Amino acid sequence: MTGTPVRTHSEAFRQRALISVPGGVNSNVRLSAPPVFFARGAGARLWDVDDNEYIDYVLGQGPHFLGHANAAVNEAVSDACTRGMLFGGQNALEVQACELTLAALGWADMIRLGMTGTECVQAALRAARAATGRSTFVHFEGHYHGWLDNVLVHTSGQQSGVASAGQLSSHLADSHMLPWNDAEALAALLSVSGDTIAAVIMEPMMVNAGGIEPLPGYLQRVRELCDQHGVVLIFDEVITGFRIALGGAAEKYGVTPDLATYGKAMAGGWPVAGLAGRRDLMEPFGTGVVNHSGTFNGSVMAAAAVVATQQLLQSDPPYERVDAYGTELMAQLAKLAERYEIPLRVQGVAAAFHVSFGDPAPVRDLRSLDRLDLDRYAGFATRLADHGLWLAQRGIWYVSAAHGEQELTDTVERVEAALAEQLP
Ligand SMILES: Cc1ncc(COP(=O)(O)O)c(C=O)c1O
Repeated sequence: MTGTPVRTHSEAFRQRALISVPGGVNSNVRLSAPPVFFARGAGARLWDVDDNEYIDYVLGQGPHFLGHANAAVNEAVSDACTRGMLFGGQNALEVQACELTLAALGWADMIRLGMTGTECVQAALRAARAATGRSTFVHFEGHYHGWLDNVLVHTSGQQSGVASAGQLSSHLADSHMLPWNDAEALAALLSVSGDTIAAVIMEPMMVNAGGIEPLPGYLQRVRELCDQHGVVLIFDEVITGFRIALGGAAEKYGVTPDLATYGKAMAGGWPVAGLAGRRDLMEPFGTGVVNHSGTFNGSVMAAAAVVATQQLLQSDPPYERVDAYGTELMAQLAKLAERYEIPLRVQGVAAAFHVSFGDPAPVRDLRSLDRLDLDRYAGFATRLADHGLWLAQRGIWYVSAAHGEQELTDTVERVEAALAEQLP
């Protein structure tokens, strides 16, 4: 793409959408993105309705770990659907989907399928409360666990409290908010209030704000503290699951939670989520003691998508390829920053890293993230869209198994073109 791309058709769709759809978008997360309407995606690339082409690092906010329109997954889903989609009863594929997912995770005994990460988080908290008879839980600054009242908080900045008008602040009263990557803060809270706390929930790598990995030993210490105080440890692996390793963060960092939520990369882009965990915590769903419901849970399309995705991930694991691509891209971005003498900083893991402007020293939590110039990066990401790179304004770059050599070369060229443009 050279010069500012023509987006006449996108603009026409936007004007139409603004009349019938609040903000022209169906998820508030997309309000900050450039107003581009897409026509199609294939592999690591997208084309908008004006036929401008983009290399995609948003990947639908993470789900397209196999790339867009993966043929094997799509064929499996469309084939299964020809025989019906929802039976108001069980289908055979559901069992296979659950078995394959548990095999990938290794540590969990049982799993329930859902539609979104948001609802699986709620099921996890409910299961933890049911098991412990306690009511409160601990969550962490900068971590995102969905958009519902009891978990929605700001994932950037120093703001605290409700993150939306209409959100009941009383629902946040059931939780304790702590800085992440600080085991002593958790130890101090648990030593005072441990016997009232049902669960600790966290993104085991803080991808939503900053692409921040746990400090060495942090997750292990959290595990010990939870055991010591009888608190259920929930890993929210909606982003990290099947992405940073087949078994997610639990596998990568070698720490086993009691419950974990999954979504995004689990089903090749199809809307499927899951709650997995220890048998004693999961069985109460099966006796009916703890309610978890959903009309579309475990549908034929969901189950077929999970089976096909898990078969691909397990028979031909793309993790080394993704790792090599992401590692090289991170290095190339750092090199460009050096050459153009701009304070671009890159942090995270190859499959999910964070780019921003500011001090190159690593950040370890939301508070240290605040010293970065996130607004400048958001503007840069918007300009990169004009150069054919589709990026999240909040700085996260997701890499897929479909990104290859050509995408790497094209990406570096496009970033360089945008950087050169900024020079006086
Ligand atoms: C870590 C984490 N948990 C939960 C959710 C909510 O998932 P969903 O958008 O599928 O409801 C997200 C979404 O981005 C997430 O990143």
